[in-house]
Amino acid sequence: MKGDMTAMKQSQIIIDYSVQPAINKLHGSVQVERNQMYEGYLILINGENPIRKATDESMLVPLSSVPHLRVLQEGMLLENTCLQQLVNLLQHCQGLQDIVMVSGFRSMEEQQHIYETSLRENGAEYTASYVALPNQSEHQTGLAIDVGLRRNEIDFIAPSFPSSGVCQAFKKLAADYGFIQRYKEGKEFITNIACEPWHFRYVGYPHAAIMEQHGFCLEEYINFLRKFTYSGEQLCIERDGLKTEIYFVPAEEGLMTTIPLVKCDFYQLSGNNKDGFIITAFHRKGSLHRECFS
Ligand code: DAL
Ligand code: ZN
Repeated sequence: MKGDMTAMKQSQIIIDYSVQPAINKLHGSVQVERNQMYEGYLILINGENPIRKATDESMLVPLSSVPHLRVLQEGMLLENTCLQQLVNLLQHCQGLQDIVMVSGFRSMEEQQHIYETSLRENGAEYTASYVALPNQSEHQTGLAIDVGLRRNEIDFIAPSFPSSGVCQAFKKLAADYGFIQRYKEGKEFITNIACEPWHFRYVGYPHAAIMEQHGFCLEEYINFLRKFTYSGEQLCIERDGLKTEIYFVPAEEGLMTTIPLVKCDFYQLSGNNKDGFIITAFHRKGSLHRECFS
């Protein structure tokens, strides 16, 4: 998911070219291996869809590499673009002083330790509500971050992140930077996790904004995207002169899947960690001659 990052910044839009190289207006297809379905910014991690591919920790970036970032503990790591966008978001909402990074990447062993400790200290009901089982936590991807309001004491599992002041400003801007509040009130029956105002997940541009607009949690969004296909209709949106088409390609039986590509300037590919791939195709201003909804 991460290599040398070449980011394109257009207003608040950052696209990580390293995910897939640009194909400059050519359309055709790419072949992907089945195990690519288990990586990318849109992977769905939950009880039904556990981690299938362990994150390579050596590809993650230490939060200590960012000056002025407040962390609850040393040694925290995140995926590269996720961290960059988090910092941009904190700068924009002026949260660098008062918002603390509480928990980022966790290895399977760390998640297991947190789960067992919580079970002992907080009991089964609380733990089931707020701590994912080992291999069912999106913290294991490096794409999730728990944030808390700076206080003398910060709860590691459930940090305070109120809907006021700087935390509210962070929440309001989060989707612009590719983040969603992953576990929202009213979606517990789908996510099987209680409302967690502190847990943000990086899904990238423009997915977070679409999810916000429709009120989708990640489970609902991954399902919604199924109706957009290469041969049928694509989900098309436009912002800041960048037009984006999104569609789903189901994984083929066997080792390889052929991904058909629409004509575009560059694209990203993500697995859904379930049964297929999501293609996000970008068109610079004027290169897609059809209307998108905004
Ligand atoms: N708090 C979330 C559910 C986790 O443990 O991944
Ligand atoms: Zn979390």
